[in-house]
Amino acid sequence: MQQSPVLELQKPIVEIRNVSFGYEAARPVLRDIDLAIERGAVVGIMGQSGCGKTTLLRIIMGALAPTRGEARVLGRATGELDRDALYAMRRKMGMLFQFGALFTDMSVYENVAFPMREHGGLPEELIHDLVMLKLQAVGLRGAAHLTPTELSGGMARRVALARSIALDPQLILYDEPFTGLDPISFGVIVRLIRELNDSLGATSVIVTHDVQEALGVVDYVYFMAAGRVIAKGTPEEIRASPEPFVNQFVNGKPDGPVPFHYPAPEYGADLELAGA
Ligand SMILES: Nc1ncnc2c1ncn2[C@@H]1O[C@H](COP(=O)(O)OP(=O)(O)O)[C@@H](O)[C@H]1O
Ligand SMILES: [Mg+2]
Repeated sequence: MQQSPVLELQKPIVEIRNVSFGYEAARPVLRDIDLAIERGAVVGIMGQSGCGKTTLLRIIMGALAPTRGEARVLGRATGELDRDALYAMRRKMGMLFQFGALFTDMSVYENVAFPMREHGGLPEELIHDLVMLKLQAVGLRGAAHLTPTELSGGMARRVALARSIALDPQLILYDEPFTGLDPISFGVIVRLIRELNDSLGATSVIVTHDVQEALGVVDYVYFMAAGRVIAKGTPEEIRASPEPFVNQFVNGKPDGPVPFHYPAPEYGADLELAGA
């Protein structure tokens, strides 16, 4: 049944209910995930590499269908959408992926204009002003004529950010947006994600293993381990989590449930001169 638009607006923009998923039947990658993302929020999905964050993001995008459970995004159950409906839904999403590189044979301007041209039917003057608006928002209006090879890593990431918000998305999905950035660029990108979310009136999901750094900017966190949500809450609640796994990540401890040492034989047994 189709809900009225007003009622829809009061509901979470993303609702994941009891979702499990496996790429192969024998090996579940997501287990019993429950998650609700409110409109306007910046939400972090955090955890160690390999715990299932990107897979969960693909479920939210509708690129993967849950093996069990239901994913509702922008008011629709993604599993029930045909190709056209899924495509229409994706147009309301902005995405910035880990390896979502810029087109190196295009200028900064053309990179940001690309989704607008793909959208089709927009007059050139409008595209121009929209590109300038988006580049202004990331502080790079003056760099419109440059090519990606002329940019620093941090600048390139900002252009990618401008491109992902080209069509004023309602929901913006970031997969490891901080990878490879120096601390200053990191700070700039973190702040921009928050600012763009608030100025666009959008909702943002940040998937990252850079837990400590991202905690400063999100409203709410889902912390994952081995395909499950093992903790959730505000950054304050996550920082104070008694869960050892979370605690180790949040406080950057070298040892804990995630060991510093790769499994090895007793040290003594591995030393040639020991006991000699
Ligand atoms: N396309 C795929 N086919 C099979 N297994 C996959 C695929 N993508 C990811 N996996 C596996 O699923 C698990 C979770 O991966 P992923 O969601 O990428 O984790 P994260 O983003 O947290 O690093 C890993 O064990 C990974 O090897
Ligand atoms: Mg990932």
